[in-house]
Amino acid sequence: MLDNELSSTTCKKSFARSISLFLQDIFDQLINGFVEHKIGTTENFLSTALVQSLRQNLHLLFESKKMQAAGIGNQAVATHNKLIRSDVIFWLDRSHNDIFENEFFDLMDAFVLHLNHTCYTGINGYEFHYALYEKGSFYTKHLDQFKSNDSRKYSMIMYLNDDWQNADGGELCVHHQDEPLQLIAPIGGTSVFFQSNELLHEVLVTNKPRMSITGWLKV
Ligand code: OGA
Ligand code: MN
Repeated sequence: MLDNELSSTTCKKSFARSISLFLQDIFDQLINGFVEHKIGTTENFLSTALVQSLRQNLHLLFESKKMQAAGIGNQAVATHNKLIRSDVIFWLDRSHNDIFENEFFDLMDAFVLHLNHTCYTGINGYEFHYALYEKGSFYTKHLDQFKSNDSRKYSMIMYLNDDWQNADGGELCVHHQDEPLQLIAPIGGTSVFFQSNELLHEVLVTNKPRMSITGWLKV
């Protein structure tokens, strides 16, 4: 088995922890989906109430002009190339003392503990940002790991959209090897989990504002 890669044979199925069975089941949906299909999804990682509160945070950040154009690659070589991606972002941080961001981080801490305990992944850090794709925005096909820094091991995206329709576009389009494209609609409450250096993916043009929290589990 290679470094941090998960495999179904090495994931211990049970481990006594203090998180609820409900959360364990949600976490395992993400992990098992990843082990079996290279990408895990679940509907209940964030509660409906937390989705709503984080969406409200994002709205306020956008209105107060705190969301910034996202870079490509690490900050030093950021090109702000609108031809590659056209979303705007804002990094979450516990120092903001925002109860909903902290609730989000508590949940992520529980997920990382569960992942490390069941799959020996050795994750010891993470970074997450809010992302807003305005109408007409997209992110072309890419991997999430930088060429110059391989610390990003797993990618997670949590959608915050209310009432998303098929015609709204903005799907996460996953390019599997030797398999049809997989389209995931950014429906509020849906979360996805995959390995950052493995899955090529893109965000298709969105026909209305598209909101998410996106980030990476790191070593
Ligand atoms: C990213 C990304 C996908 C999405 O921010 O790197 O690929 O569905 N986002 O928002
Ligand atoms: Mn990506």
